[in-house]
Order: sequence, then structure tokens, then C-alpha cells
Amino acid sequence: MFPEKIEKAFDLMEQAIQLLKGSLDTSFLDAYIENGENILDSYQVRVLDGVPDEQTVQQLEALYQQLQAIELTPEEIRRLSQLILLKGSKTEVLQANHQLTPDSIGFLFVYLIEQLFNSKQELKILDIASGMGNLLLTVLLNLNLADYQAQGIGVDIDDTLLAVSATNNEWTNAAIQLFHQDGLQDLLIEPVDIAISDLPIGYYPNDEKAQGFDSAAETGHSYAHHLLMEQAMKFVKPDGYGLFLVPSNILETEQSEFFKNWLQKNVYLQGMIQLPDELFKSEQSRKSILFVQNKGEASTQAEVLVAKLGSLKDPAKITQFFQQFEAWKSSNLK
Ligand SMILES: C[S@@+](CC[C@H](N)C(=O)[O-])C[C@H]1O[C@@H](n2cnc3c(N)ncnc32)[C@H](O)[C@@H]1O
Repeated sequence: MFPEKIEKAFDLMEQAIQLLKGSLDTSFLDAYIENGENILDSYQVRVLDGVPDEQTVQQLEALYQQLQAIELTPEEIRRLSQLILLKGSKTEVLQANHQLTPDSIGFLFVYLIEQLFNSKQELKILDIASGMGNLLLTVLLNLNLADYQAQGIGVDIDDTLLAVSATNNEWTNAAIQLFHQDGLQDLLIEPVDIAISDLPIGYYPNDEKAQGFDSAAETGHSYAHHLLMEQAMKFVKPDGYGLFLVPSNILETEQSEFFKNWLQKNVYLQGMIQLPDELFKSEQSRKSILFVQNKGEASTQAEVLVAKLGSLKDPAKITQFFQQFEAWKSSNLK
């Protein structure tokens, strides 16, 4: 159940987005961005060449007046945005590789990061395929609530998804820097403590670029998720971590030998956490969180954690996983 004020804000935001969508004759995501930009511009409706018309402007202003009166925390704003984006993507179907990462998975990332960095420290976090940014924002805001000083860096190849993310980041005052580019091209990023990502699954079309990577296929197109993981870990400090949402069969595909080339040479594979079957429609679409660590003076190969989360809805099963992770951590991580 969501607090009444979130339900009210949801209703107002949805009406405003629908009005903009109709009057600008645009897609749901573009209307979402336009609405966000109006909100950030002190709730003023932007009019270009007489669009939206006077009547729509008045309706929007009335909605914004009510919305402005609702006090929302940054995490409440994020939840609100996420609900609206989820509802919107039901009417305008997004391809699987563009969908936002659900909160249930985001909160698991938060738990794992808190376990890996248990002192309340400054943390720089990179998401190399950050899309609409729900995963990165969930992690960042919830780490801040737990007294970490977290800063994020997001990279994505799709400008519309990044614009959604930019709006949400600004509205929640989140310290996130965004880069619009192909994550496999040269990136100007300072070293980070941890890389996270819900990676796009499929082939990367630029074979020439792929050849510079240890995980590249010998012939033909390489898997983008292998290359992006390798690339992200290049920006992680020695001994730093990577947590990536990947297909559960990543170690058993026709390209896994290339992926293992990279794994063995560059990082320690410390764990693989299989997510509950209930989250996925088919066996092929099941995902796991792959947990790697960069080599460095303070890290060694641990006994690999192989865990399966029974459910994200059953508190007993979640507690069971937390106990398993914490027991593994105390005997395996320095
Ligand atoms: C599953 S989505 C990420 C969802 C995101 N975590 C969220 O919560 O909104 C995967 C993203 O990978 C991006 N992507 C695909 N190829 C890419 C590339 N070469 N470089 C950077 N991003 C890429 C897509 O545009 C998409 O936004």
C-alpha cells in the first residue's frame, strides 16, 4: 500500500502526462519528460508555437498547483516516478532491453552494497547502461538514507531514456552524472568503488571495437552484456566490486568461453545469486546477479557463493538468503 499522498500525486501526474501526450501528439515517454521539465521549471507550463493551447495550459496549471502542495521526499518522488513509468510502459510497450529495473531487484542491490561496504563511507557507483535510471536512483537514494555519501555515474546509448533519468535525478536532487554515449566507446570517468547494471542482453554490432576486449567472440558479433561488464570493471578501483544482472545461463552459452577468458584474467568471480523464478515469465528469461571483484592487494578468490533466492515476497525466504550471504561474507571476504 502506498501512502494516500503518493496515490494523489500519481493521479495528478498521470492526468498531466496524458494532457501533454494528447496536446503535443507525442509518445508517453516524451510527455513524461515534458511534464518533468515543467515541474523542474517551477511548475510552469512550457508553450512553444501556441502548443499546448490556452485551455490545456490552464488545466495543467490547476494540476500542478495541487501537485506542488504535496510534500514528497526524494525516495517518494522516485517511487512515484517508477509507478508512473511502469503504468506507461503497459500502454506503450517498451522492448525488454529498455525496461526499468524493478524496485524489488534494486533493493537487493542496496542490501548487497551495504554488506560489501559496511563502513559509512563515500561511495562512487557506475551504471554503464543506466537507461531510465531506476536501478541507479534506487541504490543511490537508499544508500543515502542509510548514511552513505553516494554519488552515481550513469551511461546510456539512448537519449530518450537518459532524459527520463535526468528529470528524475534532478527532481530528487540526486548526485548523479549522466553520459549519453555507447558504453563501449572511450569513457571519461573517474575510478569508482562499485559498478552495477541491469545489462542489455544481445549482440554488439561493432565487431572492430569489440576486438579490443578479452570477452570478445573469436568470430561474428560479441555479446554486448559480456563486453559492457568488462568495460565497467575497467573503471572500478582495485579490490572494488561489480554487481550485474545477467541471464542465469551466462556461464553456459556458446560465447561463455570468451566471457570466461575475461573472468579468469581480470577479476575474481565471487558469487552468483539466482533470482526467484516468480520474477520471470520463462526459464530462458531467468536472471541472476553476478558478483565479481577486481584483483588487488586486498582481494583473493573466495569460495564462490552460489545462492538461489526462493522468493522476494516471502520475508522468511529473504531472511534465509541474508543469513546465507552474511555467513559466506564473514568466512570469505577480507
Ligand atoms: C535493462 S535496461 C537498464 C534499465 C535501468 N537499470 C533502469 O532501471 O532503468 C538496459 C539499457 O542498456 C542500454 N544500452 C544498450 N546498449 C548499450 C551500450 N552499448 N552502451 C550503453 N548503454 C546501452 C539500453 O539503452 C537500456 O537503457
